[in-house]
Amino acid sequence: MDLDLADRTYLVTGGSSGVGLATVRALLDEGARVATCGRDADRLAGIGSHDRLFTATCDVRDAAAVQAFVRAAADAFDGRIDGLVNNAGQSRMKRLDETTRDDWRDELDLKFSGVLHPVQAARPYLTASDAASVVNVNAVLAKQPEPRLITTSAARAGILNLSKSLATQLAADGIRVNSVCLGLIDTGQWTRRHAAAGTRLGYPQWQAQLAADRGIALGRLGRAEEVAYAIVTLLSPRASYITGTSIDVCGGVGRSIL
Ligand SMILES: NC(=O)c1ccc[n+]([C@@H]2O[C@H](COP(=O)([O-])OP(=O)(O)OC[C@H]3O[C@@H](n4cnc5c(N)ncnc54)[C@H](OP(=O)(O)O)[C@@H]3O)[C@@H](O)[C@H]2O)c1
Repeated sequence: MDLDLADRTYLVTGGSSGVGLATVRALLDEGARVATCGRDADRLAGIGSHDRLFTATCDVRDAAAVQAFVRAAADAFDGRIDGLVNNAGQSRMKRLDETTRDDWRDELDLKFSGVLHPVQAARPYLTASDAASVVNVNAVLAKQPEPRLITTSAARAGILNLSKSLATQLAADGIRVNSVCLGLIDTGQWTRRHAAAGTRLGYPQWQAQLAADRGIALGRLGRAEEVAYAIVTLLSPRASYITGTSIDVCGGVGRSIL
């Protein structure tokens, strides 16, 4: 099926690695024009060049920087933006007794700014599109909190709630808003944790043990491309009647039936 993404323009935050990078590549493969950002210029340069790709350094916590990124991206692509993937971010591995006020403030700032700043900046362009779609990259933690990720779990639940509000309020502008809730996906987040764990297990063995310990039904971590397919599907104009919902991409680690 033709997803009707060709010649449309999509913004993906955090496209230099993992899920964001896989989404950038999937959109380019579909013939779309893509703009992406990250904080580190060298990592962005690592994506490689493409005549339908625009990159810029930008921290999603900085509202002015996000405004400038979105404006520059639109200018690069005929003033058009058809969709937005709010992906940039990372999780905070801390339990209640380890968290400080700064942990709570920084985590909530990253998660909420990472959605609100791009949505606010892109809204006029999205309103002008005939098939506007926003996808928020979230986590099953939003519905199933984990004590070892207490700030991230709480922030993720808030973002799922915010996504519903955005879907309701932006529908009048013709903008759909949905979420993908990830389980454990094999990206830079997990290679960094493997390195920090100081384990003698090689990465494949460590991953297999992790999948067993966490009770992942499919018995393995997910691949970034497997998330990208879900994101691209929700971005597609073919998903024109889907808004205000979330799709778990988690290999069955999610226990919630909602
Ligand atoms: N992998 C998982 O198991 C998993 C599970 C649940 C949810 N998630 C969520 O999925 C999203 C993608 O994660 P990933 O696993 O693909 O991580 P990743 O490989 O570490 O990639 C994260 C991307 O976000 C960018 N980024 C981070 N903070 C940023 C900021 N403040 N402003 C702009 N860009 C920023 C990074 O580039 P720079 O560092 O150069 O800025 C990078 O491009 C994240 O929101 C993560 O929390 C992941």
